[in-house]
Amino acid sequence: MENQQETAAAEHLQSVRWNSDHLEMLDQRLLPEEIVFLELNTAEEVWEGIRHLKVRGAPAIGISAAFGVYLGIRGFEPAGSGREALEELSAEVGRIADYLATSRPTAVNLFWALDRMRATAQALAAEGVMTADELKGALLEEARQIQAEDEETCRLIGENALTLLHDGIGVLTHCNAGGLATAKYGTALAPFYLAKEKGWDIKVFADETRPVLQGARLTAFELQQAGVDVTLICDNMAGMVMAKGWVQAIIVGTDRVAANGDVANKIGTYSVAVLAKAHGIPFYVACPLSTIDLQTPTGEEIPIEERHEDEITIGFGKRTAPQGVKVYNPAFDVTPNEYVTAIITEKGIVYPNYQENLPKLFEE
Ligand code: MRU
Repeated sequence: MENQQETAAAEHLQSVRWNSDHLEMLDQRLLPEEIVFLELNTAEEVWEGIRHLKVRGAPAIGISAAFGVYLGIRGFEPAGSGREALEELSAEVGRIADYLATSRPTAVNLFWALDRMRATAQALAAEGVMTADELKGALLEEARQIQAEDEETCRLIGENALTLLHDGIGVLTHCNAGGLATAKYGTALAPFYLAKEKGWDIKVFADETRPVLQGARLTAFELQQAGVDVTLICDNMAGMVMAKGWVQAIIVGTDRVAANGDVANKIGTYSVAVLAKAHGIPFYVACPLSTIDLQTPTGEEIPIEERHEDEITIGFGKRTAPQGVKVYNPAFDVTPNEYVTAIITEKGIVYPNYQENLPKLFEE
């Protein structure tokens, strides 16, 4: 794995980008201090990148995994020929996808993207008209397509979100659901970029987002780079900011929306939602349809990742807790649907009753 350092301005920094024969992944662990792109050539390197938060954010994880499938199969030489070779290749795609699916459990976009790669391989193998090399090329194209679609999807989410905001509004966000977490624009942060283009002045408050500080390191960084008015606060200041009347809306992203509208997002989101309700402030969730999981009935069934205790006790290399102390470190929490004012998607804005209204998004 090679590192490629960039010192140029971080405008429109892409979290992952395909470069002729390899994947470049921005190492988000190093932001905001260093802009380093890693050169990835194998599915194992992509798995590592996802597991260790070099890339993170639900859509960006899915995009990376799709490229990871291609990297995993490009060196595979089927033993058979013709249709048999295509079926072997398709089975190998399934095996690589199963492996990449073990990298992180909560963001459903990972499984969505892997299923799409599997389905593409199966459909093309069933047609039986391509060579194995052509099928590999089609899988690379599918990964690129997933990335391109995400950019367009995020722009549409931003446009829809903008209809809920106005010039001069204050908005609080949690974690990072920006360009770094997606192909471009982000989900929760997309309206801020579009508002900037319109000349609106939106004041964004970014929770720093303990324990690994996606809000401070990533959201504050990318909004500042774009010239958006952003103020960084510690997570425990959100209530104070709301009480002072400085924010009139909350917008967050999500890793998975259950069929009943319960929403999993970065740990701390639930507290923000409860505070928002207490202050009569609308709490919006922005996400693509690929984050909505109608197969998972409620938030209870969403698998919540627990991460290593070191993130809390020796985050960023400094010990801040006694050796041996018991630690609980869930990476996500679930906000019950009753706190969610609306879910903003590329297909429009969905209001309760979510159980009834979310499936309508998937109707043609
Ligand atoms: O652990 P992370 O950094 O992957 O968590 C990311 C989040 O919780 C984001 O809010 C979510 O993925 C939405 S990204 C558009």
